[in-house]
Parts: sequence; structure tokens; C-alpha cells
Amino acid sequence: RTVAVVLAGGTGTRLGLGIPKQLLKIAGKPIIEHTLAVFEAAPEIDEIIVLMASGHVDDAQQIVDKAGLRKVTKVIEGGDTRNATTRIALDAVGPEDCNILFHDAVRPLLSGRIVRECVNALWTYDAVDVAIPSADTIIQVDDNDCITDIPVRSRLRRGQTPQAFRSPTIREAYRIAEGDPNFAATDDCGVVLRYLPGTPIKVIDGSDENIKVTHPVDVHLADKLFQLAAAQAPRLTDHRSYSEELTGRTIVVFGG
Ligand code: CTP
Repeated sequence: RTVAVVLAGGTGTRLGLGIPKQLLKIAGKPIIEHTLAVFEAAPEIDEIIVLMASGHVDDAQQIVDKAGLRKVTKVIEGGDTRNATTRIALDAVGPEDCNILFHDAVRPLLSGRIVRECVNALWTYDAVDVAIPSADTIIQVDDNDCITDIPVRSRLRRGQTPQAFRSPTIREAYRIAEGDPNFAATDDCGVVLRYLPGTPIKVIDGSDENIKVTHPVDVHLADKLFQLAAAQAPRLTDHRSYSEELTGRTIVVFGG
């Protein structure tokens, strides 16, 4: 059994809308509905669990009901931090062994290709991440904003989601983390890396479109990307995303 956990426990302070950003409508639908629809349509996913921000569980349930998303079995409240939300999700999934994909609700442009590759990689690996190369040079700074390191760019990736696990691995990592008073992490692969060192974490290719709606500019970007995807929809095959379809096939001149 493969369960998709949609993490929607945050409130979107950086976007600053007054409602959790996952409820914002883009291309005619709340962001979270786009995200859920990808998992609903993915043949590899059997079940979806939604962890929603406090005070908005009913909103999320209504979206699920109205859209007729049959794979969604639970819509429950998340925690105070992303990792606290993950812990609640692990309890909600239940004790039996399964595959679990954790995905940010605010990455609505996830492709079916990425979901499939995550699930396929779990035949070989206990933990799987999704990432893209960085176009920008990444610099490390100290407390005074002075550079302390410039890691070799070809070795760097920008982490996205989903992050996928065989359930015993992620449970064990969180069990050990619970005993650490200094526990701090912003993602789930980081918990495996830190508390189960030596566990290979396979990285599969994400996509430029799989953006995390974080700042106001991302709302415009996501809206444009949905428009482009809709315009290309008849041509898209095999759940590929718009940019994947373009790569190597077409030269596009924007604004020309
Ligand atoms: N998330 C969560 N539970 C939390 C915090 C975050 O499930 N307590 C989820 C968010 O809903 C989002 C994903 O984790 O789908 C990525 O987090 P982020 O983009 O940081 O979302 P927010 O915490 O909502 O945004 P901000 O940091 O601007 O407040």
C-alpha cells in the first residue's frame, strides 16, 4: 500500500494573506485541490491523508468532498511545525508496513512522472528525495552575512517534495529523534540522514515547475504555469509536466 501524505499544516506567514496559502485559488481552484488531484490521478497511490492547519480542517474537508476525491481517507489537524505535522501523519497512517510519500500541499505543480519515480525507487531504497540542480551559486554565510563557503555547484541540488519512505525507516528515524532535545529539521529526509546515518537516500529528478508557493511572486508564477499547462494539455503525454515535454523538442521564444 502506498499512502500520500499532504502536509498542509502551515499558515503561510511569508505570503501573509490572512488565510493559509494552500486555500488560495490559483487557476480556478484552491492550491491544495490541485495538489490532491495529482495524487488522486496517480495509479501508484492508494490512499491520501491530509494534515490541515488548525481552524481550517473543515475547509479542507469541504474541498475534498466537493471535488469528489475518493482516495482521501482522513483530513485531520497538523502540528505546530512541519516535523510535528509529519509525526501526526505517521500515527494517522497506521502501524502496518507501507510506502509513504510526504508532499507539501503548496507544491501544486507536481507531475505524475515524479510520483511514479518516487514509488518505483522505493523498490530499491528505503528513502527517496526529489531535487533539481541549482542555477544559482549557493553560498554559505555566517551570522554577519559574510561568506564562509562556496560549495561546488555541480554537487548541490535544491530539495523539493515528495520525500518518500518505507514506513519502518521513517518511523525509526522519528523514534530516535524524539530522544534528542536539540531536534531541529525542516524536512523528513533530513531526519533520516541525521538519525539513521548510513541509510542511502536516493535522489530523483524534480522539475523546475514543482515550485513551492512561498512568496507573492510565486502566486503569479504558478498561475502562469497552470495556463501554459492547460494550453499544452492535449499534447502532454504520460503525465509529463510542461517543461519536461518542451525539453529537447521545441524552442520557445517568450514575448517574441
Ligand atoms: N506545514 C505543515 N505543518 C506546519 C508547517 C508547515 O504541514 N506546522 C506544511 C505547509 O502547509 C506547506 C509545507 O509544510 O505545505 C511547506 O512549508 P512552508 O512553505 O514553509 O509553509 P508555511 O509554514 O505555511 O509558510 P511560512 O513558512 O511562510 O509560514
